[in-house]
Amino acid sequence: MDEKGLVLTGDRPTGPLHLGHFVGSLRKRVELQNKGHPVFIIIADWQVLNEDPSRSGMIRDNIKRIILDYLSVGIDPERTNIFIQSQVSAITTLTEIFAQITPYGWVDRNPTVREEMKRYLESTGRANKIKEGKEKHEFTVGFFTYPISQAADILFCKGEIVPVGKDQEPHINLARDIAGRFNDIYGRYIFPKPEAWIDETTPRLPGLGGPDIKMSKSAGNAVFLSDPLDVVREKLKTAFTDPLKIRKGDVGHPDGCPIFAYWNAFSREWGDVQEVRNGCESGRLGCLDCKNRLFGNVLQPFLEEIRERRMVAEYSADIWAIARKGTDAANRAGEATLAEVREVMGINYPKLSDTE
Ligand code: TRP
Repeated sequence: MDEKGLVLTGDRPTGPLHLGHFVGSLRKRVELQNKGHPVFIIIADWQVLNEDPSRSGMIRDNIKRIILDYLSVGIDPERTNIFIQSQVSAITTLTEIFAQITPYGWVDRNPTVREEMKRYLESTGRANKIKEGKEKHEFTVGFFTYPISQAADILFCKGEIVPVGKDQEPHINLARDIAGRFNDIYGRYIFPKPEAWIDETTPRLPGLGGPDIKMSKSAGNAVFLSDPLDVVREKLKTAFTDPLKIRKGDVGHPDGCPIFAYWNAFSREWGDVQEVRNGCESGRLGCLDCKNRLFGNVLQPFLEEIRERRMVAEYSADIWAIARKGTDAANRAGEATLAEVREVMGINYPKLSDTE
C-alpha cells in the first residue's frame, strides 16, 4: 500500500452517531484526513433498506444529521468527500458485476450477517420459533447480499484503507477476496486489496445508563455526539461501575468497569488513565468522584468542542452542497474505475444512449 493510501469508510444513515462511532472510526478518519490521505466517506443509504425497507422516508433527514455529525468531529468537506451511496451509479453497476463472481459460500458464511440475523430474530421474539438452518428464509435477498454491495462501496474508488469497527472486518475481507477474484478472472490488476483498519487497542465502548454492555442506539444506552451536556451528565449518573466496589475505600477492578473503558478510550486526548487506575485499585478514588472527573476532565471538554463546531456548521454549512461536491468526486472516481472494468471484461460497447 502506498503511503498516502486512499481511505474509504462510512455509515448507514439510521440515526445520530455516538461516542462508540467516534472511538471506533471517526477519529481515525479525521487523523488520516489531516495527514493528507484522500478520504471518501460513504453514507450508505441502500443499506438502510436491508433493515426495514418501509423506513425509507426517514433517510433524507438522517443524511442531513449525519453530515452535521461528521462536521462536528472535524471532518473537513473541502478535503474529504462525503457522498451518498445511491447517487453513485458505478457502485450499483459494480454490485451487479461482483454478485456474478462471488461464490455463494462466501456470502453464506459471513459471521456478521449471521450475528445480525440472530439479533434481529431475537429482538422480534421469533428466534426459537424458526427451524435451525431456516433463519435466512426470514430475510430479504438484499439483506443477505449487502456485503457484496459493500465491496462495491469500497472498490469503486479503489479504496485501500477502511477504518471500521471490528464487526465490519468480515465485510472488508470479502471485499479483498472479491478484488482478488476479479483481478484473477480478467487477468489484470484493476482493484487493490483493501485492508480494514481496526483500533485493537480500544475495546468497544460499553453503554452508559443501563446494564446492556455495548453501546448501541437500539439498547438505549448510547451517548450521542449531539447530546446536550446535562443529558450526558444524567446518563453518567445511572451508569454501572465495578460491582465489587461498593464504597470509596474498597479495592476496585478497573479492567471490568464500564467507566474505566471510557478513560481508556479517551486517554489519548485527555486525562491520565494510569492515575485513575491507581486510585481505583488502591481504593483512594471512589466511583462517584471517578465519574465526576470523567465528566469534567474528559467528556465535557470533548463534547463542548464538538458542540461548537456543530453550531458553526448548523449556522453556515450548506449540507446538500457538501453532499453534492463529494458525490461528484465519487462519480468521477467511479466512472474511471468502471471504464477499466468494462474494458478488461470486453463489455465496453460504443455509446448507446444520449441520456447517460
Ligand atoms: N456496514 C457499515 C455499517 O453498518 C456501513 C458501510 C457501508 C461501510 N458501506 C461501507 C463501512 C463501506 C465501510 C466501508 O457501519
